[in-house]
Amino acid sequence: MASYTGLALLALSLPLSWAQQYPDCQNGPLSNNSVCDTGLSARERAQALVDALTLEEKLNLTHNNSPGVKRLGLPAYNWWGEALHGVAAAPGVQFSSSGNWSYATSFPQPISIASSFDDELFYAIGTVISTEARAFNNGKRSGLDYWTPNINPFRDPRWGRGQETPGEDTYLVKRYIDNMVTSLQGGRNPTSYKVIATCKHYTAYDLEGWQGNTRYGFDAIVSPQDLSEYYMQPFQQCARDTKVASIMCSYNAINGVPACANSYTIQSVLRGHWNWTADENYITSDCTSIQNMFTDHHAFDTRQQTVAAALNAGVDVDCGYYNPTFLPSAYSQGLFQESTLDKSLLRLYSGLAKAGYFDPPDSPWRSVTWDNVSTPEAEDLALKVAEEGIILLKNDGTLPLIPPEDRNLTLLLAGGWINATEQLQGNYAGPARTLVSPWMALQNVSNLNLVVVKWYENPMLRAIDTQADAILYIDATNEGADEGKDRNTIRWDAMQVDAVEMLATLGRPLIVAHMGEQVDDSALLNNPNVSSLLWAGYPGMLGGQALINIVTGKTAPAGRMPVTQYPADYVHQVPMTDMNLRPDPQTGNPGRTYKWFDNATVEFGFGLHYTNLSTAIGTPSNTSFDIQSLVSACNFTTYSHVDQCPFYPSGSTSSSLSVNVTNSGTTASDFVALAFIAGEYGPTPRPLKSLVAYQRLFDIKPGSSQTASLNLTLGSLSRYDEKGNQILYPGNYRVLIDVPTQNTWEFVLTGSEYVMDEWPQV
Ligand SMILES: *[C@@H]1O[C@H](CO)[C@@H](O)[C@H](O)[C@H]1NC(C)=O
Ligand SMILES: *[C@@H]1O[C@H](CO)[C@@H](O)[C@H](O)[C@H]1NC(C)=O
Ligand SMILES: *[C@@H]1O[C@H](CO)[C@@H](O)[C@H](O)[C@H]1NC(C)=O
Ligand SMILES: *[C@@H]1O[C@H](CO)[C@@H](O)[C@H](O)[C@H]1NC(C)=O
Ligand SMILES: *[C@@H]1O[C@H](CO)[C@@H](O)[C@H](O)[C@H]1NC(C)=O
Ligand SMILES: *[C@@H]1O[C@H](CO)[C@@H](O)[C@H](O)[C@H]1NC(C)=O
Ligand SMILES: *[C@@H]1O[C@H](CO)[C@@H](O)[C@H](O)[C@H]1NC(C)=O
Ligand SMILES: *[C@@H]1O[C@H](CO)[C@@H](O)[C@H](O)[C@H]1NC(C)=O
Ligand SMILES: *[C@@H]1O[C@H](CO)[C@@H](O)[C@H](O)[C@H]1NC(C)=O
Ligand SMILES: *[C@@H]1O[C@H](CO)[C@@H](O)[C@H](O)[C@H]1NC(C)=O
Ligand SMILES: *[C@@H]1O[C@H](CO)[C@@H](O)[C@H](O)[C@H]1NC(C)=O
Ligand SMILES: *[C@@H]1O[C@H](CO)[C@@H](O)[C@H](O)[C@H]1NC(C)=O
Repeated sequence: MASYTGLALLALSLPLSWAQQYPDCQNGPLSNNSVCDTGLSARERAQALVDALTLEEKLNLTHNNSPGVKRLGLPAYNWWGEALHGVAAAPGVQFSSSGNWSYATSFPQPISIASSFDDELFYAIGTVISTEARAFNNGKRSGLDYWTPNINPFRDPRWGRGQETPGEDTYLVKRYIDNMVTSLQGGRNPTSYKVIATCKHYTAYDLEGWQGNTRYGFDAIVSPQDLSEYYMQPFQQCARDTKVASIMCSYNAINGVPACANSYTIQSVLRGHWNWTADENYITSDCTSIQNMFTDHHAFDTRQQTVAAALNAGVDVDCGYYNPTFLPSAYSQGLFQESTLDKSLLRLYSGLAKAGYFDPPDSPWRSVTWDNVSTPEAEDLALKVAEEGIILLKNDGTLPLIPPEDRNLTLLLAGGWINATEQLQGNYAGPARTLVSPWMALQNVSNLNLVVVKWYENPMLRAIDTQADAILYIDATNEGADEGKDRNTIRWDAMQVDAVEMLATLGRPLIVAHMGEQVDDSALLNNPNVSSLLWAGYPGMLGGQALINIVTGKTAPAGRMPVTQYPADYVHQVPMTDMNLRPDPQTGNPGRTYKWFDNATVEFGFGLHYTNLSTAIGTPSNTSFDIQSLVSACNFTTYSHVDQCPFYPSGSTSSSLSVNVTNSGTTASDFVALAFIAGEYGPTPRPLKSLVAYQRLFDIKPGSSQTASLNLTLGSLSRYDEKGNQILYPGNYRVLIDVPTQNTWEFVLTGSEYVMDEWPQV
């Protein structure tokens, strides 16, 4: 979707009549329509509305900027809202330029949220965002549909939109989805939606613009194995398990068929195999993606065929103008049935009915107001998330840098992001009440003298001058990548390297805070004069405060890498257009993600602490399990799908794998317990390891221990064959705890292969 900063500014000057209004179900013309009858089901209510529409009116209601139907009292409605990490500007979300409704809580980017590996935090963020979204809706400034989250797994470090995602690992992405989407929608299987969440972009979308390939016309060639095991896993979580209300189809094609007219991905897999068939489950196009099927994919001869193909495939609303413009003539040409159009409208309005759009003003969530936006509690959460997401990559003991009580510590501050504010938010951010840069946060640290060196000054001259006690260099490099544009390099800019190398010669402790995108840090990691290195990504509105709290030891870091940090040369080893995850000697593809690439600069899951934390597995008594017995022990009343069934390593029905974490240092700290599975089973080549469980433990005091309960499932043990089938294989298994591995538990599975999920073939 296009970034809408520019459009949001334009929207400010539009008359208030643009505002999102509730239909008048009390006195207006719609009050006699059953759509306003709260005693009926959402579907019955939507059906009543659709029954009242003429064909021309129906054709008018198929794009995001719906004009409504005046005759019936159905107001205009914009389906396009954004709330990736806080309510954000979009054609369907209107901020005011000052005063009430001029900001919302702005959390860190999902890549930084994910680094916390904290499920409860994911849930809490979704709760705040959806509460604020309902406040904006009550303020007539937004609809109830939000096209978030972005859950394409972060496959290639060059991707311009990787910052919007919870990282490269499908298990982490799935945990993020389950918590975020569930809290946005108002709980598990809610009777009414708090807001309507949208998982995007379906599917195999993770290329913006790279060496002449654009997302609008890119054809992603993906093997059934990679599709099932990787690209589709987040959507399986959304559709089959978390039951997201809506899904967005992507710009690209998958194996020759554009995503928004792809009957395989939409009909066979999404609606068929995953049974994503609730009345309100609608699909939106990405913005202009229906048009792109004609202009970029050249998939159809006429515009009419193009819009009809999307509608017939099950795409219910066009973010763009192709549907309203060309559906009428497509209809006259007999390219689709009116009943197909009715089905789409039924889905769209069932969702709105279920979100209370046609309910009276005393219905749930109608009482939240501007007072509920960016509350002190919400902002405290934004700070906590930012702190939890910061990752310590290197430390010789310089951190934490605690100013002494009896004298002032002189800190030399250098780098392009020392006073960063909006940059801390990343893209798809709404305006925030306040933005705290690292420099601003340092103003409140006592016993500190700050010496600021501008990036263009020679830091050496200034530093010798001041005899700094320590140096803090804060910077990012991005090469202008964002939506629509990927990176060509994943290295620091030459001038930044030069500045750090000069600072490193000063003989002072040098702390580097790496902000923004992950790029190859090997020069910093290998330079003995770089004392400490943190990665803080895009830490949001209070990100500078979070960084300084970590630097000064007010908070201890415990974030973990949500992606692999690749060596800079990686970009020359595999083209972005090569979607294959597995290494391939034929093409030279070295493999993608920690599962397949074994020469990372910083490994997925890595992260240091200010204290010594060691782990021990409560070793289960059994070391051999029979596949058929595991499957027959599954309670299918409780678990709808065999991959969700628990694997009880101790052979009991209550225990999970326990990991005892002991703090033998002197600083209290959080710790993320991570469990991976590796082993010799299933098809080759085999993944190096796969994350199967994690738990963040909080505030482990010096000298004490806490125990993580890591719940493995039968799905944790599975692998995928070349057709994409998910299978339990006999063989030798290893559970690996932590990165780098601290403990290993080995076991075997016996018996014969069991197919857990037969993947639909094209
Ligand atoms: C609703 O319907 C009733 C009976 O058909 C009619 O008397 C009344 O005027 C209608 N009200 C509106 C607002 O259309
Ligand atoms: C369709 O919408 C346009 C404005 O977007 C309006 O002028 C026209 O009257 C509408 N047609 C019908 C049948 O509602
Ligand atoms: C499929 O989903 C529908 C609607 O959510 C539900 O009623 C039905 O039981 C599901 N069918 C299966 C086989 O899970
Ligand atoms: C701003 O919002 C508060 C809280 O809802 C409300 O009391 C106040 O009247 C609003 N101010 C304006 C100018 O609308
Ligand atoms: C909204 O704010 C009011 C007043 O502060 C509070 O009582 C209420 O619990 C808040 N609602 C939510 C959903 O946070
Ligand atoms: C530390 O610096 C502050 C502000 O610059 C100054 O007021 C204070 O006297 C200094 N403290 C010492 C111990 O030098
Ligand atoms: C940082 O930004 C603030 C306001 O944005 C400004 O007042 C301050 O002078 C800046 N500090 C430095 C060191 O540039
Ligand atoms: C610094 O402290 C003052 C006084 O407590 C407070 O008003 C200000 O917001 C703080 N600044 C930051 C960046 O937290
Ligand atoms: C691993 O990466 C380093 C750079 O980080 C490179 O020098 C080395 O050749 C790579 N090894 C292999 C086997 O690719
Ligand atoms: C399966 O789970 C259901 C409910 O979750 C429970 O009522 C039933 O007793 C369980 N069956 C077995 C065999 O444990
Ligand atoms: C965890 O390890 C510590 C240190 O080895 C030990 O004292 C403690 O009993 C263990 N706790 C559990 C629950 O195993
Ligand atoms: C594992 O399951 C137990 C029991 O259901 C639960 O209390 C615990 O929170 C789970 N652990 C994680 C990390 O989700």
